[in-house]
Amino acid sequence: MCLFLAFAAVTAVHGHGTRVGFYSKTCPKAETIVRSTVESHLKFDVTLAAALLRIHFHDCFVHGCDGSILIDGPDTEKTYFINRSLRGFEVIEDARTKLEATCPGVVSCADIVALAARDSVVFSGGSSWKVPTGRRDGLVSKVSETILPQVSDSVDKQKQMFIEKGLSTKDLVTLVGAHTIGTTTCRLFSNRLYNFTGNGTSDPSIDPAILPKLRSVCPQNGDGTKRLAMDYGSQTKFDTHFFANLRRGRGILLSDQVLWADASTKTYVERFLGKRGLPGLNFNKEFAKAMVKMSNIGVKTRAEGEIRKKCSAFNSK
Ligand SMILES: *[C@@H]1O[C@H](CO)[C@@H](O)[C@H](O)[C@H]1NC(C)=O
Ligand SMILES: *[C@@H]1O[C@H](CO)[C@@H](O)[C@H](O)[C@H]1NC(C)=O
Ligand SMILES: *[C@@H]1O[C@H](CO)[C@@H](O)[C@H](O)[C@H]1NC(C)=O
Repeated sequence: MCLFLAFAAVTAVHGHGTRVGFYSKTCPKAETIVRSTVESHLKFDVTLAAALLRIHFHDCFVHGCDGSILIDGPDTEKTYFINRSLRGFEVIEDARTKLEATCPGVVSCADIVALAARDSVVFSGGSSWKVPTGRRDGLVSKVSETILPQVSDSVDKQKQMFIEKGLSTKDLVTLVGAHTIGTTTCRLFSNRLYNFTGNGTSDPSIDPAILPKLRSVCPQNGDGTKRLAMDYGSQTKFDTHFFANLRRGRGILLSDQVLWADASTKTYVERFLGKRGLPGLNFNKEFAKAMVKMSNIGVKTRAEGEIRKKCSAFNSK
């Protein structure tokens, strides 16, 4: 008991204030309701798993994990994603509605987002983990604050963005491993196939064995909105196949493939792949740890923020 209290105090000092089982008394069915809602949508459309994971990531990277990504409006964070195909918001709102019917005003939208991300990974074949909860929903959502990693970012740039959020190089490689599920658009990728450095040739780091195939999926000057798997050949299963692809030059996003070109990140990819002579890393375990860390970025707790009645709008003041 004393040990537990000491631990709780330490957590508070670090400013997180979230804990596993936050709703066990106030809304014991909260996690079950989120899970069953997520599962019912994913059974219908499995591609929403990657979408829900992405919502959580983008929520946390801008203004903390406080549901700011969910707000509708002319100049909110969400508008940044109008042409960036962020989707799955209806799943979060559906869980919101169901939770409001069971325990109104208790569970935050930010927590629904964090739980839905975990449940999506599990649905896709990844391991489960305990999600600390108790986040409150933020009162600010501004597109002007939205700065996110880009596919053209160097490894140094990516590392810097993660460091600013308290995340290490290891966390970066681990969390990018989320690209083991989901798709991207030809628009973000075609330059690597046809005109990588402006001299009309492809990116030499692409595995020549799959270049014709990739070109047929994304024809030159074709439909830029067409989608392709970020984990070539394994887009719905949560596993280390994505890292194996990086090793073979089969990464799709340039920002992913460069993780293999830089020694500081390559070593983690190799460790996930169990390279002999290096201490092995278990992807599922590391992913769980990194997700918990990420899901505590800038959280609002206790008297801060609010519990939104609708995830897409602030409560009227
Ligand atoms: C989104 O894409 C459409 C069509 O390509 C374009 O007309 C519009 O300006 C874009 N909007 C933003 C916010 O980038
Ligand atoms: C490749 O890019 C360069 C620089 O943007 C451009 O001048 C050239 O026309 C492009 N070539 C092709 C084949 O698209
Ligand atoms: C085009 O640029 C790449 C990268 O700089 C280089 O490796 C390749 O040799 C160049 N190809 C031609 C045809 O100039």
